[in-house]
Amino acid sequence: MLNWPPELYGRSLLRIADLTDTEMLDLIDLAVALKARRRAGTRGDLLKRRQVALIFEKSSTRTRNSAAVAIRDEGGSTEYLTKNDIHLGVKESVKDTARVLGRIFDGILFRGFSQETVAALARYSGVPVWNGLTDLFHPTQILADLMTIKEAFGRLKGIKLAYVGDGRNNVANSLMIGCAKAGVHYVNCTPSELSPDPVLVKEASEVAARNGVTLEIVNDPKRGVAGANVLYTDVWVSMGEEAKQEARLRLLRPYQVNMELVEATGNAGGELIFLHCLPALHDHDTAITAESGALEVTDEVFEAPFSKVFDEAENRMHTIKALYVSAMADLSAL
Ligand code: CP
Ligand code: NVA
Repeated sequence: MLNWPPELYGRSLLRIADLTDTEMLDLIDLAVALKARRRAGTRGDLLKRRQVALIFEKSSTRTRNSAAVAIRDEGGSTEYLTKNDIHLGVKESVKDTARVLGRIFDGILFRGFSQETVAALARYSGVPVWNGLTDLFHPTQILADLMTIKEAFGRLKGIKLAYVGDGRNNVANSLMIGCAKAGVHYVNCTPSELSPDPVLVKEASEVAARNGVTLEIVNDPKRGVAGANVLYTDVWVSMGEEAKQEARLRLLRPYQVNMELVEATGNAGGELIFLHCLPALHDHDTAITAESGALEVTDEVFEAPFSKVFDEAENRMHTIKALYVSAMADLSAL
């Protein structure tokens, strides 16, 4: 049964805070229903003739392909545009580009550096715009993360998630508010140098308090992960921050997710899963430093049965489809 609130029609998603708690949870339920629809072999016409521009300033495996396949599954199509393909912000202002693309496409998904760019695309295009990652936020990722947690435990309320690593990156910023809205206890285990912006912490803390859950920032990873049901980490050096690599690695080595940290949750062998938005630096093939294989997570954890990272990656597609459907579905195709 496909069901979603009519308020989401025509809406953009620039940050998780744009959604009410109920809208966010409804989108996750819609994604679960769309996943079942696809598993049952149905590829319908919900997005027939809908066309989305995919503007990518940064590289992507999951987001780009999810955004392309999600719409094709339901009869629509995309155009992939890198900064070398269009004039965005170079020979033409973001405002003008937005106004042009809004005349041609039914929606725009943007991945890039500045939150201001995605906000300007939404303000001036007149069509729904989805933030596929900026330096500040990664909202579509968090919908997939929460969906994966719900699939694993059958519930969100009362689950405890421990994020370990770079506490102020796009994923951490969006997870913090997403957990608060979903009624998930959230602890961010990070060195004080990488603490999240106090403005974002205050905003999320108010939501957490309203939903009766805790939100903590702690420096000691072993203390922070105690009682966690979800261990979550991300790369230590995000796209665009390559110059900070050496300092970051020095700061974050004590925050590696390994079996010792898994044991420190007290839930090993029980209600515990590992999540990572991916891509992950967990072995020699992908390591970016010569001296070490695993960075933010060891192979042992990454490959463990409680690691749900590939369910999480798949769910990127179903949640992006839920965003498309709720914002621009052809209701006559239901
Ligand atoms: N998690 C995520 O956004 O992956 P990509 O960078 O591959 O899109
Ligand atoms: N924080 C990471 C997320 C990648 C999906 C980055 O921005 O590179």
